[in-house]
Amino acid sequence: MGCLSWKYQVLCLLSFLFHSTPSSFSSSLSSISPCSALLHFNHSLSLDSSASPSIHTSSIQMCDISYPKTASWKEDKDCCTWDGVLCDQTTRHVIGLDLSCNWLRGPIHSNSTLFFLPHLRTLNLAGNCFSRSLISSEFGNFKALTHLNLSYSCFIGKIPYEISHLSSLVSLDLSLNDGLLIETPVWKRVIHNLTQLRELLLDETNMSSIRPNSLMNLSSSFTTLSLNGCYLQGKLQNNILCLPNIQTLDLGFNDNLHLVSLPKCNWSSSTLKFLDLSSISFLREFLDSVSSLKSLKVLALNNCNFTGSIPTSLGNLTQITYLALTANSFKGLMPLSLLNLPNLSTLILDNNQLVGPLPNHVSGLLNLNVLSLRSNFLNGTLPSWLFNLPSLVRLNLYGNQFIGEIGEFKPNSLEYLDLSDNKLHGSIPRSLLNLPNLSTLSLDNNQLVGPLPNHVSGLLNLNVLSISSNFLNGTLPSWLFDLPSLMSLSLGGNQFIGEISDFKSNSLEFLDLGHNKLQGSIPRSISRFDSLIDLSLSSNNLSIMLESEMFSKLKNLQYLDFSNNFVSINNNVTYTLPNLNQLNLSFSNISEFPIFLRTTTNLQSLDLSYNRIYGQFPRWLGDVGRDSLQFLDLRANLLQGSFPTLSFPSLQYLFASNNKFTGEIPSLICNASSLNVLDLSHNNLSGMVPKCLVHSNVLSVLDLRMNSLHGNIPATFSKRNIFRNINLNGNQLEGPLPRSLKIVGTWKF
Ligand SMILES: *[C@@H]1O[C@H](CO)[C@@H](O)[C@H](O)[C@H]1NC(C)=O
Ligand SMILES: *[C@@H]1O[C@H](CO)[C@@H](O)[C@H](O)[C@H]1NC(C)=O
Ligand SMILES: *[C@@H]1O[C@H](CO)[C@@H](O)[C@H](O)[C@H]1NC(C)=O
Ligand SMILES: *[C@@H]1O[C@H](CO)[C@@H](O)[C@H](O)[C@H]1NC(C)=O
Ligand SMILES: *[C@@H]1O[C@H](CO)[C@@H](O)[C@H](O)[C@H]1NC(C)=O
Ligand SMILES: *[C@@H]1O[C@H](CO)[C@@H](O)[C@H](O)[C@H]1NC(C)=O
Ligand SMILES: *[C@@H]1O[C@H](CO)[C@@H](O)[C@H](O)[C@H]1NC(C)=O
Ligand SMILES: *[C@@H]1O[C@H](CO)[C@@H](O)[C@H](O)[C@H]1NC(C)=O
Ligand SMILES: *[C@@H]1O[C@H](CO)[C@@H](O)[C@H](O)[C@H]1NC(C)=O
Ligand SMILES: *[C@@H]1O[C@H](CO)[C@@H](O)[C@H](O)[C@H]1NC(C)=O
Ligand SMILES: *[C@@H]1O[C@H](CO)[C@@H](O)[C@H](O)[C@H]1NC(C)=O
Ligand SMILES: *[C@@H]1O[C@H](CO)[C@@H](O)[C@H](O)[C@H]1NC(C)=O
Repeated sequence: MGCLSWKYQVLCLLSFLFHSTPSSFSSSLSSISPCSALLHFNHSLSLDSSASPSIHTSSIQMCDISYPKTASWKEDKDCCTWDGVLCDQTTRHVIGLDLSCNWLRGPIHSNSTLFFLPHLRTLNLAGNCFSRSLISSEFGNFKALTHLNLSYSCFIGKIPYEISHLSSLVSLDLSLNDGLLIETPVWKRVIHNLTQLRELLLDETNMSSIRPNSLMNLSSSFTTLSLNGCYLQGKLQNNILCLPNIQTLDLGFNDNLHLVSLPKCNWSSSTLKFLDLSSISFLREFLDSVSSLKSLKVLALNNCNFTGSIPTSLGNLTQITYLALTANSFKGLMPLSLLNLPNLSTLILDNNQLVGPLPNHVSGLLNLNVLSLRSNFLNGTLPSWLFNLPSLVRLNLYGNQFIGEIGEFKPNSLEYLDLSDNKLHGSIPRSLLNLPNLSTLSLDNNQLVGPLPNHVSGLLNLNVLSISSNFLNGTLPSWLFDLPSLMSLSLGGNQFIGEISDFKSNSLEFLDLGHNKLQGSIPRSISRFDSLIDLSLSSNNLSIMLESEMFSKLKNLQYLDFSNNFVSINNNVTYTLPNLNQLNLSFSNISEFPIFLRTTTNLQSLDLSYNRIYGQFPRWLGDVGRDSLQFLDLRANLLQGSFPTLSFPSLQYLFASNNKFTGEIPSLICNASSLNVLDLSHNNLSGMVPKCLVHSNVLSVLDLRMNSLHGNIPATFSKRNIFRNINLNGNQLEGPLPRSLKIVGTWKF
C-alpha cells in the first residue's frame, strides 16, 4: 500500500479496513504504521472520567490516580514520545502500551486498530470501561505479549480460547470485569500451555465449571494466584499453599470451596505475603498453623466459621500489616499479642463474640490506621492508648459494652470514629471535635451528658455527625450550622433546647433533630436543601407551616416526620414532593388533609392520627398510594361521612378508630388483599360485618368495637386464619359464637 506519511495513514487505514477482514489482519500487520494504529484506536473511544472510578479493597487499590494520557497525544509528534507508549530503541516498534485508568469508554471490536501492534510485549488497559464488550479473540495474536492487564474494564462474556495462544505470557490480569466466564477447555489450555505464566488474576470471573483440583497443576514458579469471588466449588487440597514461590494467594469468597487436610509442606520457608481465604470453610488446625507463614503481610480469614479463641500465635507474624478475622465466632479475650504486632496498619475483628476489656498497656502500633472491633461484647473503659495512636484513621467500636468516659484525643489523622451503641457516659470532649480530618463521628446510643462544646472550629470535612439517643442538653451551638460539608446530622433523642438556626451547608441529605425540646420555627434554609432525603423534627415544640415556599424544592425528600409539634397547613398553593414515601403528622394539631399529597405516587406510610382533621375523607386521597400505600393511620380525628373504599392491594395496616364515620363497612375493603390490621372501632358504622373479613387468611387484628353494627356474628372463619385479636363488643350483634375459630389471642364480643 502506498501510504507514506503516517498522518495520511489514518485515511489509508480506513480504506484498508473496508477491504479486509480481521482474519487477514495478521498477514498485513507490518504494513500499517503503529502510530496511525494508535491514533485510530484513540479515535474509536471517548474520554469520560467516570469510566475510571477508584476502588480500594484489601488487595486492590486501583485508579487513585487517573487521567487521560491520550489527551496529551499530539499528531505531529512521533508516537514513541506519547504518554503511555513505549517503543523499542532500535526497531522503533511499539512494544509497550499502558493506558490504565485513562478514562477510556467505548467498545473494542475485533476490527480495532489496537490489533495492528504486533510487537507489543506489555499491554495494560485496566481501569477503563470498554462498554461491556467481549474480549476479542484478536488478543490472541499479540504473540510477543508477556504482560496483559485487562482488569476492571467492563469486559463481559467468555474468555476466548485464543488467550491460550499467548505463550510468552508471564502475567495475565482479567480480574474485576462485569461477569467474565472461563470454561474448562480454555482453562486447561491456559494452565498447560502458558508455561511462562507467574501471575494469574481472575477475581470475579465465573469459574463455576472448573474443578478446583486442577489448580494443583499450576507451575511451581507461580508467584500470584488471585481467584477471589470466582464461584469455585468443591474440594481443594491444601497443597495449593505449597507452591514454592507463591507470594499472593487469594481464594476468598468462593463460598462453596472447601480446603481439606493440612498442607504437607514445610511452611517455615514459605514466601507467602498475601493470603485471603475468606468465606472458605476449613480446619481449625490450619488456623493454628498459619502463624508459621513468617512472611505474611496480609491475612484475611473473614467469615470462615472459626470458633474458640483467636490464636495468640498470630502475634508471631511480625511482618503483618493487614489482619482481618471478621464474622467468625471467636470468643474469649482479645489477644494482647495482636496489638503488639510492630507493622500492623489494619486490624479488623468485627462481628465476633470477644469479651472483656481491651488490654491496658500497648506500645508500638505507630502505624495503625484502622482498628475495627465492631459488634463484639467488649467491656471496661476505653484504654488511654486508644486516644494516642499517631496514625489512626478509622476507629470503630460500635456495638460493644464499653463504659466510662471518652478520653481526650490527641490531634491526629482520625477520619472516622464510631463509638455508637455502647454505655459511655460523661460529656463529649472538645478535642474530639477539633480533629481536622474527621469526616464521620457517630456516638449514638450512649449515656453522654451535658451540652455540645462551644467554640469548635475546623471540621471542614465533617460529613456525618450522629449523636442521637444520649442525654445531651443545652442549646445547639452555632458551629453546628456552619459545617460546610455536612451531609447527615442526627441529634434525635436528646434534651436540646432553644431554636434551630439557619444552616450554611446545602449538602444535607439526612436531618434528625426529633425528640428534643426545641422550639421556634424551622429555619428558612431548609427550603434550599434540594438533596434532602430524610427530615425528622418530631416531638419538639416547633411551630411549622407546611407550605409551598418552604418545601416545594425538596424533590428528593422521602421521609418527613413532623409529628408531635404545632403544624399548620397552607393548602393555597399546591406543590409536589415526587419521592415522598413516608409522612408522619400525628399529634401535630392539624385540621386539614395536606393537599400536596395529591401528586405523590409512591406514598407507603401516612400517619395523620390524633389531630383535628374534620369533614369527609377526600376522594383524591383514595387514589394516593393506590399501588404503594402500606400503612394508613387516621385515628382520633373528626372525620365523618361514609367510610372510603380503600382496596389497595399493598395496604397492610389501616387505623381509623375514634372518628365519626357512618354507613356500612364497604365489603370492597377485602380487595385489600394484604390487610393485616383493621381498626375501625369507636365510629358510628352500621350494617353487618362483611363476611369476607372473617374469611381472611391474612388479617390478624380486627377491631370493630363501639359501632352500631348488627346482624349475626359471621360463623365461617377460615381454617387457615391467623387472627390474634378480634374485638366486636359494643355493637348490636347477635347469634352464637362461631366454632370454626381457633382462639389464639383475645377476642371480645
Ligand atoms: C485522542 O482522543 C481524545 C478524545 O477521545 C482527544 O482529545 C485527543 O486529541 C486524541 N488524540 C489525538 C492525537 O488525536
Ligand atoms: C493491572 O493494572 C492495574 C492498574 O494499573 C494495577 O492496579 C494492577 O496491579 C495491575 N495488575 C497486575 C497483575 O499488575
Ligand atoms: C468494526 O466492527 C463493529 C462491530 O462489528 C462495526 O460496528 C464497525 O462498523 C466496524 N468498524 C469498521 C471501521 O469497520
Ligand atoms: C500451545 O498452543 C499452541 C497453539 O494452540 C501450540 O502450537 C503449542 O504447541 C502449545 N504449546 C504447548 C507448550 O503446549
Ligand atoms: C456461571 O456460569 C454458569 C455456566 O457455566 C452458569 O450456569 C451460572 O449461572 C453462572 N453463575 C453466575 C453467578 O453468573
Ligand atoms: C494435571 O495434569 C495432568 C496432565 O498433564 C492430568 O493428567 C491431570 O489430571 C491433571 N490434574 C488435575 C488435578 O487436573
Ligand atoms: C523446614 O525448612 C527450614 C528452613 O527452610 C529447615 O530449617 C527445616 O529443617 C525444615 N523442616 C523440615 C521438617 O523439613
Ligand atoms: C460452622 O461450624 C459448626 C461447628 O463448629 C458447624 O456445625 C456448621 O455446620 C458450620 N457452618 C458452616 C456454614 O460451615
Ligand atoms: C509463637 O507464639 C507463641 C505464643 O504466642 C509462642 O509460644 C511461640 O514461641 C511463638 N513461636 C515462634 C516460632 O516464635
Ligand atoms: C466484662 O465482661 C465479663 C464477661 O463477659 C464480665 O465477667 C465482667 O464482669 C465485665 N466487666 C465489666 C467491667 O463490666
Ligand atoms: C444538662 O445536664 C446536666 C446533668 O446531666 C445538668 O447538670 C445541667 O444543669 C444541664 N444543663 C442544662 C442547660 O439543662
Ligand atoms: C389561603 O387563602 C384564603 C382565601 O384566599 C385566605 O383567607 C387564607 O388566609 C390563605 N391562607 C394562608 C395560610 O395563606
